Parts: sequence; structure tokens; C-alpha cells
Amino acid sequence: MNQQVQPNEEPQKTIVVASKLTKVFRDFFYRLRFPAVQGLDLEIRKGDVFGLLGPNGSGKTTTIKILLGLISATSGSCSILGRSPRDVAVKARIGFLPEESYFHRFLSAEETLNFYGSLFGLRGALLRDKTHALLKSVGLENDKTRLLKTYSKGMTRRVGIAQSLIGDPELLIFDEPTSGLDPIGMDEVKELLLKLKAEGKTILIASHMLSDVQDVCDRVAILFKGKKLLDGKVRELRTRKTGVRVELPGVSGKDDENLAKALNVLRENGVEDIDVVERETSLMDVFLDVIKNQKTSSGV
Ligand SMILES: Nc1ncnc2c1ncn2[C@@H]1O[C@H](COP(=O)(O)OP(=O)(O)O)[C@@H](O)[C@H]1O
Ligand SMILES: [Mg+2]
Repeated sequence: MNQQVQPNEEPQKTIVVASKLTKVFRDFFYRLRFPAVQGLDLEIRKGDVFGLLGPNGSGKTTTIKILLGLISATSGSCSILGRSPRDVAVKARIGFLPEESYFHRFLSAEETLNFYGSLFGLRGALLRDKTHALLKSVGLENDKTRLLKTYSKGMTRRVGIAQSLIGDPELLIFDEPTSGLDPIGMDEVKELLLKLKAEGKTILIASHMLSDVQDVCDRVAILFKGKKLLDGKVRELRTRKTGVRVELPGVSGKDDENLAKALNVLRENGVEDIDVVERETSLMDVFLDVIKNQKTSSGV
């Protein structure tokens, strides 16, 4: 009885469903030879930021290609936005960032987006406004007239994300959005993903960089050799119930007097197993700090 849905509690709309999805690639002789995805079940609901995670070759891109209707599954079924992936009408409702974006290097970001916008039937002021708004939202408004060949990888990735957004899609599919980026480019893309998430977009992110997407995704599925090993809410998967970590950034070191007093209180209350570790700044923190300071002092 307690599983009854309350009348005012609208069930969350399902955007992607896959059931026992399987893809076995054929060899030269048309024999089914290479299993890339094996019996994959997925469910992505409206507003989810869903991470399809796994090492290289685990079947992420193959899954995406099936969902986009670019290749067909060997067996199993899937639907996207309530339709078959083969349905042409559904494609206009999806924004896709491929693993590698191939843009014309001798066009500016503005011209590139104008071109893709025109493919969606946008013209005149409407097209201009849309391009402007997207370039602003991905933080490229000051560089919009520069040719893409002068862009960094992170900037190019952001053009790709802007391009995927041009048709106001209901679902975004990003394949390896942070791969090949340096820490700054990665941060820029991550921030953009968080912004899209805050806007309530439904996003499927495929990535082999687990640490990159753990702050962004609500739910993940972990693939390995085409099989799903695990799925669930990131918050729950990351909850380790085997201990508690307390950080004390104001405490100078292990021999701090107040720390000793606090530890004694714990010991007096029966907490014996205490591990005190001095926090070290990672090289990455130092690197990002130095660059951030440089940016602020030079007004960039
Ligand atoms: N067209 C193809 N023909 C044969 N094998 C393929 C083809 N495309 C992908 N594969 C294989 O399928 C597996 C999954 O690939 P992929 O989906 O690209 O993985 P991921 O995106 O997780 O890195 C890999 O072993 C890959 O070599
Ligand atoms: Mg891939």
C-alpha cells in the first residue's frame, strides 16, 4: 500500500528506455563476431543527468549510436523520447556532441553556429539572437569572430556543446565531453555541464573519465566489456558507510592542541580507531590556484 503514487505526484517522464540491448558487430564475412553491447537495460528520466561510464571499448559509443538510430541493435529494444530511434522526427529533438567534432577550421564560432542554426530553419534576427545567446552561455562571446583553427580544444568542445543546443533539444547526448582536455578546459566544460543541469536539461554523458563526471551526474551505469556491472544514484553509490571523514582546514597540523583535545573527547567516548592524516595540496590544486591568480591579476 505504501507504494501507491500520491495523486499530485506526477510520475517522472521516461526519456530513454533500453531493454536487453545487444550489439554484436559482424566480421568481413558477415559473421556475428564482436560483441560490443550485451543485454543492456537503461532508463533515463526527464531532468536526469545520466552517466554512461566505463573504460575504453566498454560499449558506450555503440550504445549511443543505437540510441541515435545510426546503427541498429542485434537484439533487444530501445525507445528515445517515446519513439523508435529510427524515427526521423525524433532526431530534431536530440542534441548530440560526438566524440570528435569536425568543424570547418576557417569559419568563426559565430559563422559555425549560424550555419547549424540555418539547418534548423532559423533565419534573420531569430538566428542572430540564438547564436548570440548560445555563444554567451558557453562563454565564447568575446572570441566569436575568431577562426576555429585558433581555438583551444576546450573552446572547440564548447562550440560543439553550443551547436548541440541550437535546436532547443529535449535530450542532450554528449560522448566523452571532457576527453583530451587539459585541466582548465575540463573545468570549463564541467562548469557548462553543471549549468545545463541547473537549467533542468536531460543529459546522457558517456565518459571513461569517472572523476570528471562524478560531480555532474545524478545517476550512472558502469559498463565493462559491453555489460552493465552496476547502476544507481551517484549520491548513494558514493556513500561509504564504513567511516566518517572530518576535514579541519583551520588546523595547522597533527600536533595542534585543540585537535588533541577533540581527539581525547572522542577516545573518552569509545571511538578508538582514529586516523589523523595531514592534508596535502595536490599538484593539480597548486596548478589551478596559480592560474586562477594569474587570471585575476591580469584581469582576464
Ligand atoms: N564497427 C565496428 N566493428 C567491430 N567492432 C567494433 C566496431 N565499433 C566498435 N567496435 C568494438 O566494440 C567495442 C565497444 O566499442 P565502443 O562502443 O566504441 O566503446 P567505448 O565508446 O566505450 O570506448 C570495442 O571493442 C570496439 O572495438
Ligand atoms: Mg567511445
